[in-house]
Amino acid sequence: MVINWDPQKMATGVPEVDAQHQEWIRRYNEFDEAVSQGKGLEVVRSTLDFFANYADTHFKLEEAYMTDRHCPAEAANRAAHEQMRNILAGFRAYVKRQGVSMVEVAALRKEMQEWLVKHILTIDIQLRDC
Ligand SMILES: [Fe+2]
Ligand SMILES: [Fe+2]
Repeated sequence: MVINWDPQKMATGVPEVDAQHQEWIRRYNEFDEAVSQGKGLEVVRSTLDFFANYADTHFKLEEAYMTDRHCPAEAANRAAHEQMRNILAGFRAYVKRQGVSMVEVAALRKEMQEWLVKHILTIDIQLRDC
């Protein structure tokens, strides 16, 4: 299921962070559509590489904003980022060892979708208030 960017619910008010969230969602949606069209196996490697690199860049930027602004959500944000890094590292290691099956593709799709939406809506959004 694709994610729709909803500025009222999702915008943090920090333009750089919001632009990166939109890019992440755009790439997630491309992946999601590729899976729906049965192309999941072909795109899963490049998607994983993109997400891992992008997560690193984005998490560093966002954590720096939260530190500078003394956001109460800072620790929860770092912990959730660590969780996503572990999810991505786990998938990458698995794919390297075992290759990709539709089970992993479906699991990645679900985890990424749930994590992205929940994380932005509950934690990143707190940048609005700090
Ligand atoms: Fe975050
Ligand atoms: Fe974020």
